[in-house]
Amino acid sequence: MRRVITYGTFDLLHYGHINLLRRAKEYGDYLIVALSTDEFNWNEKQKKCYFSYERRKQLLEAIRYVDLVIPETSWEQKRSDIHEYHVDTFVIGDDWEGKFDFLKEEGAEVVYLERTPDISTTSIKQDIKG
Ligand code: CTP
Repeated sequence: MRRVITYGTFDLLHYGHINLLRRAKEYGDYLIVALSTDEFNWNEKQKKCYFSYERRKQLLEAIRYVDLVIPETSWEQKRSDIHEYHVDTFVIGDDWEGKFDFLKEEGAEVVYLERTPDISTTSIKQDIKG
């Protein structure tokens, strides 16, 4: 069984997220989403989530492409996650292009997928506000 992992916040789940998850799943049979906790988002990304971790997790678990949701609590955990979850492929959007190439040292394939244009959690928040 080929295992794939991806990381993110996935707040106000939108079609850009679904596209990413669908294409990530195509790299294997089992997709793990490491979901940023509220604390990690706030402390490390200075982002306040609209939906809590538990709500975001519940939404992801309802998606057919997602097999397991685990918490992302640090930047460093990626190396150990590769081994702990027997990951073959690490996938993330190309806004992170080149940033995680070091995971190849852990034996994982590293894939950057083109982002879906013209949609993001930030733009949804701005549009609704405006
Ligand atoms: N993603 C994507 N296409 C989009 C938006 C996001 O492929 N239009 C991908 C990201 O590249 C990442 C994953 O979805 O791999 C989770 O991204 P996240 O940062 O949670 O979503 P954004 O909508 O980019 O959120 P924000 O505006 O807060 O940065």
